[in-house]
Amino acid sequence: METIITSAQSSANSNTDFLPLQGTDYVEFYVGNAKQAAHYYMSAFGFQALAYAGPETGVKDRASYAVRQNKLTFVLTTPLRAGNEIADHIYKHGDGVKVLALKVDDATSAWNETTKRGAKSYLQPQTLKDNDGEVVLSGIHTYGDTVHLFVERKNYNGAFMPGYRKWENPYYKPSSTGLLYVDHCVGNVGWNQMNPWVKFYEEVMGFRNILSFDDKDISTEYSALMSKVMSNGNGYVKFPINEPAEGKKKSQVEEYLEFYDGEGCQHVALATSDIVTTVTELRNRGVEFLRVPNTYYDDLLERVGHIDEDLEPLKELGILVDRDDEGYLLQLFSKPVEDRPTLFFEIIQRKGAKSFGKGNFKALFEAIEREQGERGNL
Ligand code: FE2
Repeated sequence: METIITSAQSSANSNTDFLPLQGTDYVEFYVGNAKQAAHYYMSAFGFQALAYAGPETGVKDRASYAVRQNKLTFVLTTPLRAGNEIADHIYKHGDGVKVLALKVDDATSAWNETTKRGAKSYLQPQTLKDNDGEVVLSGIHTYGDTVHLFVERKNYNGAFMPGYRKWENPYYKPSSTGLLYVDHCVGNVGWNQMNPWVKFYEEVMGFRNILSFDDKDISTEYSALMSKVMSNGNGYVKFPINEPAEGKKKSQVEEYLEFYDGEGCQHVALATSDIVTTVTELRNRGVEFLRVPNTYYDDLLERVGHIDEDLEPLKELGILVDRDDEGYLLQLFSKPVEDRPTLFFEIIQRKGAKSFGKGNFKALFEAIEREQGERGNL
């Protein structure tokens, strides 16, 4: 059953927040070829070149490209040799999300508060300095091989962070597609692991469970899953956690776990204030999206009531709509952005709604299952 906890309840303990977060600082992907991946996010998603780190900047074991669009920063990192943590990560998981970095005022306190509550340390607080100031970084492990870094950058004025230099591509300045910031990041975890990770986010990071879906909400003929949405105190950071549920055939979460070879980030939702323009741009630049059958639109307005947008462009682009007590949202899901059926992106425009599109799950999961079937993974 879906349970929505009101914002009045959710703000009740805001003054005891031991881990104040200012939002997502960046998402770092470990990839097989960072130079080409950066080009993909620039050319297909409309990010701009921001900063580069590698042998030329004194970083000997890797190359990293930071790209930015509005408040969204992605870092694409590749190892330069075999036999290290980054190379092993890619060998096992393929391209995927390694770091969900969170912006904090005090990275030392964030590390102290979370590790004393049971988080496993990934990076002890360390200060990185260059001529533009200093950044304090610390980090903890979360599900799978994924980590959270805490980034304190209030005393830094450079392009991205020490170790990087400003990166400008004189040949290519793609125009924005209107993507604004990270709305939420979803983790896929193993059988019976959702509640332990819910507990981790509650106890270690002070998050609250704001929404739950069980297998009755999210079950098509085959693809059952359960999900709980975890949110920090101010609601800037939201991490839904999925686990597979028993269905007739293999759950989409199981397919992910098999091909990612473990738990990891399933999708990153990117916010826009004009989804029709954003999705038109993304499609024109080659981003592939899931499609629901056209019959989805036959009774859409009866289901969701009045919406400001014209129906025709939504139908043409395959954009989904859902309503909750506070408003509605428009959303669309990309196909996986690598050859393994693992990480994908969601494009979301919120018009009051704070939920996640429960009304679309059935149509959406049937679309996912069609793709799973084509891959022979049902
Ligand atoms: Fe989502």
